[in-house]
Amino acid sequence: MKQKRVLIIEGSPRKRGNSQLLCEAFRDGAEKSGHHVDLIRIQDKRIGFCMACDGCMRNGGTCVLKDDMADILKLYQEADVLVLATPIYFYGISAQMKTFIDRTYPIWQNLGQKEVYYIVSAGLGEDIVNRSLSDLDGFVEHLEKYEIKRRLFATNVMGAGLVKDTELMVKAHQMGENI
Ligand SMILES: Cc1cc2nc3c(=O)[nH]c(=O)nc-3n(C[C@H](O)[C@H](O)[C@H](O)COP(=O)(O)O)c2cc1C
Repeated sequence: MKQKRVLIIEGSPRKRGNSQLLCEAFRDGAEKSGHHVDLIRIQDKRIGFCMACDGCMRNGGTCVLKDDMADILKLYQEADVLVLATPIYFYGISAQMKTFIDRTYPIWQNLGQKEVYYIVSAGLGEDIVNRSLSDLDGFVEHLEKYEIKRRLFATNVMGAGLVKDTELMVKAHQMGENI
């Protein structure tokens, strides 16, 4: 079996929240199967907003901002598997996830094939999550070649860490194990 490079982007600002716990379960599963995993918590990084200066379009794809995004873009470029994990905030993705997405602008073309997984946590029900997926879909649809393999929805989890000891953690682990 081919060892895959996995990049998990965790977009919750909340430490030990539902997104983080599910991402860690996914990571543990993927590592158990011998894959290489990088789990990035956007909140813990120094990453500014895209300024729409188009500097990257003029200079061959290097962002003018000098922050942690340069290293993350390298991981993103190399990844065979991309996991996007976000809480739902006002029927959309978190600001952390959106900031990551916008900062991929310098290299959004010619990234080859990526397998994509979603992990979405919400205080309310699945209808809320479904209303909010277009933010992630819109990003993924810009990839050169992609397959959205699975979407894991943690619904009705308002409090931090409510997914702990639930079937969702088992599912996240299995998702990672079976990539
Ligand atoms: C600013 C803010 C906005 C939120 N908006 C929604 C919402 O529109 N729908 C919803 O179901 N939950 C909403 N929630 C609840 C979170 O989605 C929920 O607590 C989720 O579990 C957070 O994930 P985390 O534990 O990974 O941080 C909101 C929470 C915050 C802080």
